[in-house]
Amino acid sequence: MATSHGDGEAERRVERAPGETPPGPDGVPLAGNTFQFVRDPFAFYERCREEFDSDVVHYRIAGTNGYMLTHPDDIQTVLVERDRDFVKGTVVEQSIGAIAPTGLISTSGAEWQRDRNLIQPAFYRERIETHAPMMGEYASGFADSLPSGEPVRIDDRLKGLTLDVLAKTLLDVDVRDKQTAIGHASETIAERFDTSGFSAYLPLWVPTPANLRCKRAVQDFFDAVDEIIAERQAEDEERDDLLSLLLEREYPDGTTMEPQRVREQLMTFLFAGHETTALTLTYAIFLLATNPEKQARVHEELDALGGGTPTAADLADLPYLEQVIQEALRLYPPAFVIFREPTNDVELGGYTIPAGSTLSLPQWNVHRDSRWYDDPEQFRPERWTESMEEELPEYAYYPFGGGPRHCIGMRFATMEARLILATLCQRFEFESVTEAPLDLSMQITLQPSDGIDVIPRAR
Ligand code: HEM
Repeated sequence: MATSHGDGEAERRVERAPGETPPGPDGVPLAGNTFQFVRDPFAFYERCREEFDSDVVHYRIAGTNGYMLTHPDDIQTVLVERDRDFVKGTVVEQSIGAIAPTGLISTSGAEWQRDRNLIQPAFYRERIETHAPMMGEYASGFADSLPSGEPVRIDDRLKGLTLDVLAKTLLDVDVRDKQTAIGHASETIAERFDTSGFSAYLPLWVPTPANLRCKRAVQDFFDAVDEIIAERQAEDEERDDLLSLLLEREYPDGTTMEPQRVREQLMTFLFAGHETTALTLTYAIFLLATNPEKQARVHEELDALGGGTPTAADLADLPYLEQVIQEALRLYPPAFVIFREPTNDVELGGYTIPAGSTLSLPQWNVHRDSRWYDDPEQFRPERWTESMEEELPEYAYYPFGGGPRHCIGMRFATMEARLILATLCQRFEFESVTEAPLDLSMQITLQPSDGIDVIPRAR
């Protein structure tokens, strides 16, 4: 068996002459703007991987320098060691930044730090664990709704479930089986930023039908939040959701968050937390359904719990299930690339990268690099042993990003994914109608192009 990693690192980390430019595709049809690059990133990433044996690949988009970084050390430099020298940049400004410019994903510097500090307590471990019974109850209700023996479009169904969980967590509202401004906002925004359509390439102020629908849906969401706030002020009941924290918690100077910023934070969390978690579950179920012996191992582990809907306390007894989720996030990272822009010239991989360039840090490539993973294309949850993780370079695996801007919802998402997957696998055996290999589409998140159909069979 090949060694996990190490040898390749020495091969590629070589001295560069000053002023040397990294290799990359010349004159590929990438003219246009950043979103055109995002439009067919698969072809682009695959080409960079196959043609250029380099940890830094250079390309140009609409007169801007683009660099793709695939060495874990460089990724660590950008995300952790020198994170202050980078901003999120154009890609973020044109997507969530256009809808929620004061939300946690979009802001930077002191403004971002102040809000991250204020919001962080909502994501402490103890706080997250209080959501577990609700997540279990919602997962159980969802399992009841699955028709045994009939095909279901599992990605769509799971998006509904994670949206319900998020609405309850953020706003303490039960939107199960209801048409709401919350569900509508998240659907319309997804449609607006679907890069397979034309609308994603135009700024939000251009009055296209999709832009107008998106702005309307965002406004409806903000209005719905305002209504909830008004109802609360009338009822005087203590709530324990993210909205209350945003409304009540004080900044160090004794002020509280202004109303528009509260709305935009909620929009940001809805945007960041719902599809990502649903996709994690979708891919995990697909991988289990297409690898029956791995699914059998999950069933064995669950059966040893001795019945009853799995709870947060049971998760410690489900190590294989945890490995399944880790491995699904390796193979199909829902946030498949992280973007940054350096504010000054920086040295990366021996090259000088000019200020204002767009850097892509693609999990998609790094997570499938044979320098770090044996048989990288294979679904092998059992690879995630303690010793493997000790040897793995830290940024050879970063489904939740890293450094100060790492995903604030990571614990929430992993607990939710483990509880839901445990509940569903306990109740069903999944058979896949959709065949491997999956046809994927890199939109804002990594989506199955034609959805994923599975047949759940009651056990
Ligand atoms: C499996 C599910 C999830 C994945 C794969 C994921 C992935 C990520 C990644 C890669 C980042 C870093 C982006 C960057 O550095 O540019 C991020 C940031 C973020 N995520 Fe998640 N996420 C998930 C679930 C969630 C959930 C459930 C929430 C909220 C409830 C959430 C809220 C956020 C927020 C607010 C940020 C911005 C944090 C900051 O800049 O301070 N995410 N996420």
